[in-house]
Amino acid sequence: MDGNGRWAQLRGLPRYEGHKRGVEKVKEIIRAALRLKISVVTFYAFSIENWQRPKKEVEIIMELLENTLKKEKKNFISQGVRFKMIGNRYLMPENILSVIEETEQETSNCKELIAQFAISYSGRDEIIRAVKRLIKEGITPDIIDESLINSFLDTSGVAEPDLIIRTSGEQRLSNFLIWQSAYSEFYFTQTLWPDFTEDEFTEAILDFQKRQRRFGKVSEFTRAY
Ligand code: IPE
Ligand code: MG
Repeated sequence: MDGNGRWAQLRGLPRYEGHKRGVEKVKEIIRAALRLKISVVTFYAFSIENWQRPKKEVEIIMELLENTLKKEKKNFISQGVRFKMIGNRYLMPENILSVIEETEQETSNCKELIAQFAISYSGRDEIIRAVKRLIKEGITPDIIDESLINSFLDTSGVAEPDLIIRTSGEQRLSNFLIWQSAYSEFYFTQTLWPDFTEDEFTEAILDFQKRQRRFGKVSEFTRAY
């Protein structure tokens, strides 16, 4: 979800207004994902690198997060949305983490859609934490394989992304799900996140459906040599 700041600046508004509208777009895309029967959607809300932004902006984003979760919890439950955080919990302010964990617990039986929020997240940090934990647990090298690594990541038990959409014209991953995206398809759009719509989300999915995914193999329709 990129481009909130630019969206606001283009209108002579404080960056905060872009983040506020960004939240509305998260709600819109969750509704769309439910309608389209998508099973998992992950929003990159706040990276570990984002902690280095000016203190005031970080405070505003955290406050927005806290208020949104408090307000949306009942809607998550009624829509069947299971909320999950992926990211570094040690770096989170205690009061916000407790709201996050309460929302996770109270939506834990929701079955329609998993909505993962990457908060205080970076893919490299996730891998480092996983490695530390598996060493602490005394895992022997012989049994390490992809599924074992998967089980130590924050996304454990959740399907990896088929499609990654990045808004605002930037064409990079910026530490998002770097392990899990090994075979993801990418969709880049110039649209700033606060202008993103359900229609464009559907367009991205239709584009994805036209692609051929071979996962390193040859297509079954390719003639043998
Ligand atoms: C994305 O919008 C939201 C967060 C990273 C929290 P930005 O805040 O990165 O917006 P730009 O990139 O400055 O326009
Ligand atoms: Mg940005």
